[in-house]
Amino acid sequence: MLSHRVGRFGAAPEDLRGLRNRLARAKRAIVERSEAGEQGWLSCLDDAAMVKRIRDLVKKKAAYRTCLVIGIGGSDLAARALSKALKPGEKKLVFAGANTDPDELAGILSELDLRKTLINVISKSGDTVEPMATFLIVRDRLERRAGKRQAANQIIATTDRESGSLRELAEREGYDTLPVPKNIGGRFSALTDVGLFPLAYAGADMRGLLAGGRAQRDAFLRGKPEKNPTALYAALQYLAYLKRRRIHVLMPYAERLREFAFWYRQLWAESLGKKTDRRGNVVHVGPTPVAALGVTDQHSQLQLYVEGPNDKIITCIEVGTFDDDAALPDSVSDIPSLAYLKGKTLQDLIHAERKATVTALARNKRPNGTVHLPNITAETMGELIVFFELATAMMGELLNINAYHQPGVEEGKRLTKQYL
Ligand code: PA5
Repeated sequence: MLSHRVGRFGAAPEDLRGLRNRLARAKRAIVERSEAGEQGWLSCLDDAAMVKRIRDLVKKKAAYRTCLVIGIGGSDLAARALSKALKPGEKKLVFAGANTDPDELAGILSELDLRKTLINVISKSGDTVEPMATFLIVRDRLERRAGKRQAANQIIATTDRESGSLRELAEREGYDTLPVPKNIGGRFSALTDVGLFPLAYAGADMRGLLAGGRAQRDAFLRGKPEKNPTALYAALQYLAYLKRRRIHVLMPYAERLREFAFWYRQLWAESLGKKTDRRGNVVHVGPTPVAALGVTDQHSQLQLYVEGPNDKIITCIEVGTFDDDAALPDSVSDIPSLAYLKGKTLQDLIHAERKATVTALARNKRPNGTVHLPNITAETMGELIVFFELATAMMGELLNINAYHQPGVEEGKRLTKQYL
């Protein structure tokens, strides 16, 4: 990411020095918004009542083998990403509601025994058309199969405490409910009831996730921003943005983080793509995030990243140690062109491939960086979530925009209702 490696497209030491005061101000703004209760995504990490509430409900509903999670955007992507990363095995999680494609829903329902399935419908507003439409169809089928009373036992609604159609329906039908705090936006709700209930139900370590999140938050709160990895990451992304590197690629080198890149993509896009700044000036800012996957996209995207327009920055995520490994058998040592594989494992290969990619990028003056994750655990995933949430919030402050609303999305939601 730095100019001594990639020339004028990278950040120079004086660029970073010049940002020091602005980083300190950005950090102060985040802390103040949190302390004033305007934003709740940092303080929710300490919420013991939330942990108890989720654990109690997990126990109460333990009878089912599968949980169908219905939600979209911030009410969907975190649980999807974390379940792919952590592979909790006690129950199966199935996701629906993120599309209104009838073929997709038919496929999902054809593989589910609804009478043995817990339904967790998640919508903060309680009025988002995609999950609500999906939920109404699923609920109708469940009621027809299991009866209205039993169906009500199998449904958990995660939604606003007071308002919205889902809240109204839940109260009328007697569903168990989980709250979405007013001061936490969908895409910042990964480590709240929204993301945590499905994961805990499936057997993931909820306390580990929260502990990791707290560790990342506390490191950010403790030190000077210019020494903190999250703040520095945001600073480098911001400087790249100023230098017109406005396509921001996240390329984890781990299949288990494939969905995580999609969670990041929403967080970065919906938070930072804004028409006006905090003073009301029309600015039309925002980097374009791209979700990629190492090593797969070396055979799809990398040609473009290395030789195409120099308008991107690439962040890789490297997993230090994978849970498994596979040694390459010594069965073809008589073929000289395969000799380099002798004695190697798949872990050796994936590490070498990431190193080769970032070296090729740097040699071609393409700014890039790597986030190193020692391994994939609940703790490290909690850290990673809060790392990107804080980086997003810092970017929002540096760009002087409100990172927490999404007026452009709301307009689309309103228009859909009108056309229907
Ligand atoms: O991050 C956001 O706020 C959005 O992506 C929402 O999560 C998404 O639009 C779904 O909204 P809701 O949870 O109200 O159904």
